[in-house]
Amino acid sequence: MARLFDHDRLVIASHNPGKVSEIADLVRPFGVEVISAADLNLDEPEETGTTFADNALLKAHAAAKAANLPALADDSGLVVNALAGAPGVYSARWAGADKDFMVAMEKVEELLRGSEDRSSMFVCALALAWPDGHADVFEGFIEGEITWPPRGDMGFGYDPIFTADGEDITFAEMEPAKKHTISHRADAFQKLVSAYFGEPNA
Ligand code: IMP
Repeated sequence: MARLFDHDRLVIASHNPGKVSEIADLVRPFGVEVISAADLNLDEPEETGTTFADNALLKAHAAAKAANLPALADDSGLVVNALAGAPGVYSARWAGADKDFMVAMEKVEELLRGSEDRSSMFVCALALAWPDGHADVFEGFIEGEITWPPRGDMGFGYDPIFTADGEDITFAEMEPAKKHTISHRADAFQKLVSAYFGEPNA
């Protein structure tokens, strides 16, 4: 299949080394070299969007323009149906300046108390922007429910209170390798890779 991504370099608009190396692993089979926003000293724009797609797009456009190369950005979070989608794009901010996710998880549980509907999902938007202003967005999901009390010590963020549909353990009790194959990020990546790259180089 023809390779649709026609550059050999891609900027990852993230200062998080974990995300940069995860994305580098994904695009390596396609012969694409990854450069991080930190390597290029790019500023991190403020996340002023009201949707995951908006925030991913604003980060990807800013990096593509500054680096004059295609740039990939992501934005993700937890959407709780009975809370009208909260914490949503504010998922990181609910943990406060100390990034204390126990505080954020307790807030979810407190607001949900008494609600029979504990359904929720993790969402990931990936945006790939080009220096000429073109951009595409791919959204991935994993559905599940909020469980209480928190369980498990793997993963990060809201993982200890999220149980994916069909599982009886939380994301924080699941082997990371398994989580990475079923997660919202994996879903979004699969959509991006099949749209842009087709089959890996032989
Ligand atoms: P960002 O996309 O790096 O801004 O992350 C947004 C926030 O969403 C994170 O700080 C976490 O709170 C939450 N989040 C996103 N993905 C996950 C996940 O896979 N597990 C747990 N929390 C997540």
